[in-house]
Amino acid sequence: MTARSVYLETFGCQMNELDSELVAGQLTALGYRMTPEQSDADILLYNTCSVRDLAEQKVRSRLGEVRLRKQNEPNLVVGVMGCMAERDGEAMYRQFPVVDLLCGPAELDKLPGLIDNAVRTRASLEGETAHEKSAKETALQGDSSRRSSTLAAAADSLEMLDLSRAVSPTDHSGSAYVRITRGCNKFCTYCVVPHTRGAEIHRPPDHIVDECKKLEQAGVLEITLLGQTVNHYRYEHGASVTIDGVTQPQKGRSFTGGHTRDPLAGANTTPFADLLKRIQRLRFVTSYPRDFGDDVLEVIRDSPRMCRYLHIPVQSGSDSVLKRMNRGYTVEQYLDFIDRAKAHLHQPELGRPLTLASDIIVGFCGETEDDFRQTVDLLERVRFKNNFIFKYSPRPGTTAFGRLDDDVPHEVKKRRCNELMAVQQRISDEVSQEQIGLEFDVFVEGVSVKERKKRKAANGAIALTVGGRDASEPAEPLPVEGPIQMSARTDGDLITVFDCPQGMAPDDLVGTIRRVRIDDAKGLTLSATLL
Ligand code: 5AD
Ligand code: SF4
Repeated sequence: MTARSVYLETFGCQMNELDSELVAGQLTALGYRMTPEQSDADILLYNTCSVRDLAEQKVRSRLGEVRLRKQNEPNLVVGVMGCMAERDGEAMYRQFPVVDLLCGPAELDKLPGLIDNAVRTRASLEGETAHEKSAKETALQGDSSRRSSTLAAAADSLEMLDLSRAVSPTDHSGSAYVRITRGCNKFCTYCVVPHTRGAEIHRPPDHIVDECKKLEQAGVLEITLLGQTVNHYRYEHGASVTIDGVTQPQKGRSFTGGHTRDPLAGANTTPFADLLKRIQRLRFVTSYPRDFGDDVLEVIRDSPRMCRYLHIPVQSGSDSVLKRMNRGYTVEQYLDFIDRAKAHLHQPELGRPLTLASDIIVGFCGETEDDFRQTVDLLERVRFKNNFIFKYSPRPGTTAFGRLDDDVPHEVKKRRCNELMAVQQRISDEVSQEQIGLEFDVFVEGVSVKERKKRKAANGAIALTVGGRDASEPAEPLPVEGPIQMSARTDGDLITVFDCPQGMAPDDLVGTIRRVRIDDAKGLTLSATLL
């Protein structure tokens, strides 16, 4: 029998991208063939996001498209995985009968079994009507199972999914994600994540470090540590549980990182700062404002390979809005943290300025014009490099959905969103302009996107590699004249392009750290000369 082929499409965040990568690796190891073409596939999987309604709408329209195809191909297996599966639950089968299987984000280890069952059921019903082929396969966390279970059961085989990661030296782009925590315990009132991804659990540090080493050995040059609140990471060794010889992840405790060294961190604990010391060249997302101790800032300051970039969402510049969001800090506390971070990490004279990024929600329940003005003021004060700005989208199942009135009209949300984006755009431009004339050590990631497009337009194929070889692109001599534009990143996550000098091969630059001088800036892209 030929290998079943799987099309897997990912919606939403970096956490979903990593989940998809792990699922694809596992399915490949089991003999499935991953295909980038929907029309080629016998199995369609959608890894979904529920954070905003817009993300869910995209999935709904995809399922609408698939309905027609399935009328002619009753053996086609359609699976919805990720947060939307968890949030909608079995109601999804009623709304979209085309869906054959549902798998929540905390149950992904069960996905191969669900697919296998779905495929077998359909094959055994060869010749039956579409109706009889409608057996459903479901793995959802629900409200009670893993969330309220013991530590050991909470960890269980989901950890194996991360541990089984197969990294091929030819199949990555030079950078990779590594998960350090799963889930979230913060329960911000607008957010579905604690409801869909479940309680926060922390992976054992040895697993994380081993995974990073494995990636490095395969040629991965830059690692981004992932978690909903990465800097809340804290692993207690005494409390670990071992199943079949494998140390299991640990449930997050309600621990509030102070402004000083964590007094609870004894010899048997690995706090976030210690984890960082063990891993080279990395960045991490997303940080939670309240959990940043000076110990973490000191590690970042003292490590030449750690990025001076913090993604630390503020969400609003108004205390009353922050309170209704249950964010657990005031604007003053947030600004104190920013001052502390700048005092430790902002060193432009050494070529190491600190850059900051954030998320903002406009039009949250009860947000007045004055609340909004305070958010504008906060942007002017902090001067983020960039900001992800969202209009509030009420999510069923969250605290805000049941208890707070979504009373800011859509038009007002839209206006505030546009105004804030314009303010941020100006600040982003200014931050970029401030870099002109400075010298930085940048990490060369590959050939720039612009250069790739230029060469693709000229040839229909690109004969360049970007850290690790892309199998779809032939490695031939360059057919286009002129210097090759390379793309690099500063410590502060600013994209920097420069020309590869004559006589130097792009591949020799990729994955190295080079000194450049910034000559110009357009939007968030800096242009530089290699020194
Ligand atoms: N509406 C709008 N934005 C939201 N976010 C999370 N939930 C919602 C919601 N219901 C945003 C927050 C978060 C980012 C990942 O998505 O800003 O930091
Ligand atoms: Fe959602 Fe708040 Fe957790 Fe972030 S910290 S994932 S916004 S609940």
